[in-house]
Amino acid sequence: MPGTNVSNFVTFAEMNIFKVKINFEAKGLESVELPIAEGESVLDVCLENGIELQHNCGGVNGCSTCHVYVNKGMDNIQEISDKEEDFVDRAVNPRINSRLGCQCVVLDGDIEVTLPDQSQFLGH
Ligand code: FES
Repeated sequence: MPGTNVSNFVTFAEMNIFKVKINFEAKGLESVELPIAEGESVLDVCLENGIELQHNCGGVNGCSTCHVYVNKGMDNIQEISDKEEDFVDRAVNPRINSRLGCQCVVLDGDIEVTLPDQSQFLGH
């Protein structure tokens, strides 16, 4: 169609797919390794794969319930914003490698994260 620019569409073949290894602090859960596409967040991958990661604000950088620890690949994800830092500070047991799962958007390369025990949120 004249005037229609279709070059903004990205096919699956053109999409960069990386790996995310997810470890769990909760007892009895084995680590898993899953594909993560460029532009996808750790929260997205968890929800797509039935992994429980709280997300009370719906993934818009407005709470701290999706708190995760990034063990490897911090350079491969979107940089932390001031707003995210504020929420990370309010998370339970924040560490130097704490991030919000919904803001851990992969840009380039594999990552490894650990999910804190989510049982603290049960019933909330
Ligand atoms: S789900 Fe609320 S900040 Fe990630």
